[in-house]
Amino acid sequence: MAKSRLQFICQSCGAVHTRWAGKCDSCGEWNTLVEEGTSGGIGSGPQSGRNARKGRAVALTTLSGDIEDAPRIASGIGELDRATGGGFVRGSAILIGGDPGIGKSTLLTQAAAALAERGHRIVYVSGEEAVAQIRLRAQRLGVANSPVELAAETNVEDILATVSDGKRPDLIILDSIQTLWTDMADSAPGTVTQVRASAQAVIRYAKSTGAAVVLVGHVTKEGQIAGPRVVEHMVDAVLYFEGEGGHHYRILRTVKNRFGPTDEIGVFEMSDKGLREVSNPSELFLGERHAKAPGAAVFAGMEGTRPVLVEIQALVAPSPLGTPRRAVVGWDSPRLAMILAVLEAHCGVRFATHDVYLNVAGGYRISEPAADLAVAAALVSSLTGLALPADCVYFGEISLSGAVRPVAHAQQRLKEAEKLGFGQAVLPLGGDEPAGGFGAGSFQPATLTDLVVRIAGSLRKEREDG
Ligand code: TYD
Ligand code: MG
Repeated sequence: MAKSRLQFICQSCGAVHTRWAGKCDSCGEWNTLVEEGTSGGIGSGPQSGRNARKGRAVALTTLSGDIEDAPRIASGIGELDRATGGGFVRGSAILIGGDPGIGKSTLLTQAAAALAERGHRIVYVSGEEAVAQIRLRAQRLGVANSPVELAAETNVEDILATVSDGKRPDLIILDSIQTLWTDMADSAPGTVTQVRASAQAVIRYAKSTGAAVVLVGHVTKEGQIAGPRVVEHMVDAVLYFEGEGGHHYRILRTVKNRFGPTDEIGVFEMSDKGLREVSNPSELFLGERHAKAPGAAVFAGMEGTRPVLVEIQALVAPSPLGTPRRAVVGWDSPRLAMILAVLEAHCGVRFATHDVYLNVAGGYRISEPAADLAVAAALVSSLTGLALPADCVYFGEISLSGAVRPVAHAQQRLKEAEKLGFGQAVLPLGGDEPAGGFGAGSFQPATLTDLVVRIAGSLRKEREDG
C-alpha cells in the first residue's frame, strides 16, 4: 500500500505541488495552494489505497447495436436547448458554471420544472439551500406544483443511494459541486480533491445508468474553494452562465460540448418571475439606441449559428495627457490598438493626441474579428463628429495592410439586418452578392481608406447641402 504523502494542490487550476508556495507556477494565481492528503485522491483512483483489488473483466461490445430511449431530453426552454445542442444527453454530465448569484439555480429550477411537466423523472439535490428556500424560489417562479423530486443533501454516496431507489431518474441536478463530499476522499468539501472525487463518482453513475447529470459550479475569485475549472475535462459539456453587472440579461455560453456545437449561446432576461427567454437578442442589444449620434456604428455579428446585431460606441476626445488613454469595454484592447494603427498608417487618420474610449452597448462582449470594420467606422465617425447613417450595419475584418477581408455568414448577417429594418450595409468585397434589399444600399470597400473617404465624403455633402 502506498504511503499517504502530503501534497499541495492549487484550488484554481488543480496543479499538484510537492511544496507550498505563495504563487501557483501553473496558473499564476496567488494563495491558492492548499495542503491535501493523497489517499483516495487524484491519480490514485477511487478504488486504490485502502481496498485495492484485482481487476475484473468487463464485457466488450460493438459500435452498432440498439440505443435505448431517445438520446436527448429537451426541456422546451428554447434558449437552454439551443445552448445544450438540442437538450440534455442521456448518460452525460454537464457542468454549468457561473458567478454566485447570476441565476444558475433559477435556470435549473425552471428547467427541472419544465422537464418534469413533460413526464420525465427529475431529481434536484441542493447542497446550498434548505428545502424551504428552494420551495420559496419555486413559488416565485410559479412552478411549485411541478413533480420535481427535491432533496437537500451533500454526501455523494447518500445521493446516489437515494436516486438508485425506484425508477432511474432522467436528469439529476446537483447544486453545487462545491458542496458535495464523498467518503472516498479525506479532504474538506470544496477542495480540489473532494470536488474531483465527487464529480468522478457522479459521472460514473451517469455513464453506467444513462441518467443525465447537471453539476452546478461556482466560479470563484478567491482560491478558497475549487473552481469549476478542475472538473471541466471530466464532463461532457461545459456551459457558463454570464451576465454583466447592472444589466438584466444573462448569456448561457457553451464552451465545450462532446455532443453538439460549442459556439452557441442562449440569451435570457432576469425578471421578478425568473428567467425569460430572449429569442431575438438583437432587439435587446439595439434597444437602447438613440437617433443619429457621432461615434455609433451597428455591427452585424454572429454568435454560433445566430446573427446578433449590436451597437458599437466610440468616443474620441482631445487628450490632456502625454500618453493618451485607450479604454475598451466589451472588446479586445490589443485589437483596438491594431485598428488605430492601421487607421494612422494607411488612412492618415491621427489619434496620437486623442483619448479613445470604445464600448459595446448593453454590456455585450464581442470576440469576432468581423467587428473591425464597425469599430473603425465608429472611431472615424467620433473623431470627425460626423454621424453615420442610422440604418446602416457594418461587418468585415481589417488586415494590417488596411485591406478589408471577407468574413463568414455574410448572407445571414444581412438577412438579420434587413429583418430589423436596416437599409444599408458596409461589407467586404467577395463572397456572395448582397441579399435582397441591400443591392443599392450596400457599399463594399476594398480597403479601409475607401470607407474613411466615404465617411469624410458625407461631410462635404453636408456642407454643400447646408
Ligand atoms: P440564483 O439562481 O440563486 O443564483 P445562483 O444559483 O447562480 O447563485 O439567483 C439569485 C439572483 O437572482 C438573486 O439575486 C435574485 C435574482 N432573482 C430574480 O431577480 N428573480 C427571480 O425570479 C429569482 C428566482 C431570482
Ligand atoms: Mg444557487
